[in-house]
Amino acid sequence: MKRWIVKAGTTSLEGLTEQEAARPEPGRGEVRIKVHAVSLNARDQLLISGAYGVPNGDFIAIADGAGEIDALGSGVDGWSIGDRVTGLYFRDWHDGPPAQDQGWGLGSDGQDGMLAEYVILKADRIAAMPKSLSFEEAACLPCAALTAWTALNGDRPYRRPIGAADKVLVTGTGAVSLFALLFAKARGAAVVATTSQEEKGRQVLELGALDTVNYKQIPNWGEIAAERTGGFDRVVNAAGSAAIDQSIAAIAPGGDIALMGLYDHAATPPNFVGLMMKGGSIRGTAVGSAMAFADMAAFIDEHGIKPPIARIFEMAETKAAYQFAASGEPFGKVVIRVAG
Ligand SMILES: NC(=O)c1ccc[n+]([C@@H]2O[C@H](COP(=O)([O-])OP(=O)(O)OC[C@H]3O[C@@H](n4cnc5c(N)ncnc54)[C@H](OP(=O)(O)O)[C@@H]3O)[C@@H](O)[C@H]2O)c1
Repeated sequence: MKRWIVKAGTTSLEGLTEQEAARPEPGRGEVRIKVHAVSLNARDQLLISGAYGVPNGDFIAIADGAGEIDALGSGVDGWSIGDRVTGLYFRDWHDGPPAQDQGWGLGSDGQDGMLAEYVILKADRIAAMPKSLSFEEAACLPCAALTAWTALNGDRPYRRPIGAADKVLVTGTGAVSLFALLFAKARGAAVVATTSQEEKGRQVLELGALDTVNYKQIPNWGEIAAERTGGFDRVVNAAGSAAIDQSIAAIAPGGDIALMGLYDHAATPPNFVGLMMKGGSIRGTAVGSAMAFADMAAFIDEHGIKPPIARIFEMAETKAAYQFAASGEPFGKVVIRVAG
């Protein structure tokens, strides 16, 4: 079978290599998945650049994928051959807040990912796909969509799930922000998006955003967005800590900032006084648990949500898919089809 490996020592796309390998056999408590599609996330670029540490060993690339179970190891309960599943990003996180040792997720040093014709996963590292989605669509969910779900709702038990009366600001039009927009809209919330690109601003309005603000042209984008709307109950900060002060400026009293972005890092401390005076909070967000994924999958089916896909590549075009994903051009997820 074919698979794509990030080689030990990789610090650029050069280290991403196609290989032939024997089809793996599941051991006790494991399942084998015939992979149909995977999708790229910002972290897959960080992993080949060495930003998450230069890998000590080879690993199969890419965290997010979907396929069908085609073999069961001994001692596996609750799953059957033919079940349509995705991988789960983090290991050993069933419910509640994050588990202590999560590592960097599937498709990182020491944890094989999904870009292979067949992969082996522990039976508790998979989730049922939403019934309404194709494999290509479901492959978009494990990292970006679940991060958006957790950003809006928090970890289970949800103390303050997103509601119809909420106003939400999403930063940029990357995958996390687009999923947050779709989920918040489905709950009836009003959503404003920042973007650096006029065309993406138009596309995000078509997806249901109320308004857009250009964060490159308007340095005080958070303040301006708050002036226009009266302030936000939630900010999904998928930009980074450099966007914290404008996130604080954007929230209404009691507002909540979910921080997961890793693009721009702040050179100075955040405006903590501003945060205090609004009684606001900043909440670190790291993907989500298996149970949160199940809630999200049911919500996607219930509301007919379709993951936005920018382009689908074939497995042989993997390097081109990485380059396209890193170009700043895509609106939506970049998917690689693995099997017909
Ligand atoms: N903590 C976690 O668990 C977690 C999980 C998922 C993602 N992340 C991180 O969250 C971020 C977003 O992930 P993603 O999957 O949405 O990435 P993505 O799809 O690659 O997002 C790309 C978009 O992000 C926007 N962007 C880039 N720099 C920005 C900035 N300085 N300010 C505002 N927007 C900016 C741009 O939007 P425009 O083109 O509209 O300007 C760009 O097109 C990444 O840093 C990723 O590593 C963290």
